[in-house]
Amino acid sequence: MRVGVLGGTGPAGSAVAVRLAASGLEVVVGSRSLEKAAGVVEELADRWTGRGLTLVPGDNGQAASADLVVLATPWEGALSTVADLAAELSGKILVSMVNAMARWGQHFVPLLPPTGSVAVAVARALPATRVAGAFHHLPARELGDLGSNLEADVMVFSDDRATTDEVISLVGRIPGLRGFDVGGLSSAMAVEALTPALVELNRRYKAHASLRITGLG
Ligand SMILES: NC(=O)c1ccc[n+]([C@@H]2O[C@H](COP(=O)([O-])OP(=O)(O)OC[C@H]3O[C@@H](n4cnc5c(N)ncnc54)[C@H](OP(=O)(O)O)[C@@H]3O)[C@@H](O)[C@H]2O)c1
Repeated sequence: MRVGVLGGTGPAGSAVAVRLAASGLEVVVGSRSLEKAAGVVEELADRWTGRGLTLVPGDNGQAASADLVVLATPWEGALSTVADLAAELSGKILVSMVNAMARWGQHFVPLLPPTGSVAVAVARALPATRVAGAFHHLPARELGDLGSNLEADVMVFSDDRATTDEVISLVGRIPGLRGFDVGGLSSAMAVEALTPALVELNRRYKAHASLRITGLG
């Protein structure tokens, strides 16, 4: 399977790209600029030489032409990015890892889009796409470091059980991560808005903590 990452040149998108490539998938690192994508892929290949990663640079259109696509732009660029790619994304799973948040004084705070979440806004803009959410709470630095042992749970949501199951399988390809179904797109608001609280936690305790769900057996 080929995975494309929109905004794959940033810390979050390149981290997901590297982990999925390490799991054996071919990954298109997407960007608004093919040249920038090529530079980032070169850096990643240098850093992880010998790991056998298949990372391919592309523009966001090429990334959207993959079999499954991850959306990893800042929230303010998410809708404009996907709006141009509706045809490429039609019928596919699009996994949003986008959080709407801002720095307010000394703190990071959640921003609530009019639809309640970025994922719902994206789903409304792409009625023919199977929009899901995952990876929101994973700090990019650890996720992008193949030498770092991950131990985290990932909240996965979508309005379609088969889509959620496929995304949970995708998450499970990454050692140390477990994906769990936390419901439909209506859960996106809570999932996205939790992220700034985790960022605050990590700043307060000088950590790179993520989430672990207990009690599931
Ligand atoms: N950083 C983390 O630890 C982390 C963890 C989990 C989830 N997330 C979420 O993942 C998303 C990306 O995070 P990030 O830290 O990687 O962000 P980022 O570095 O600010 O942006 C990622 C990439 O998006 C593209 N981009 C920037 N502004 C854009 C715009 N206005 N329109 C379209 N594309 C734009 C850029 O790529 P090009 O210039 O190459 O197009 C950039 O490299 C965010 O929504 C964030 O909340 C982040």
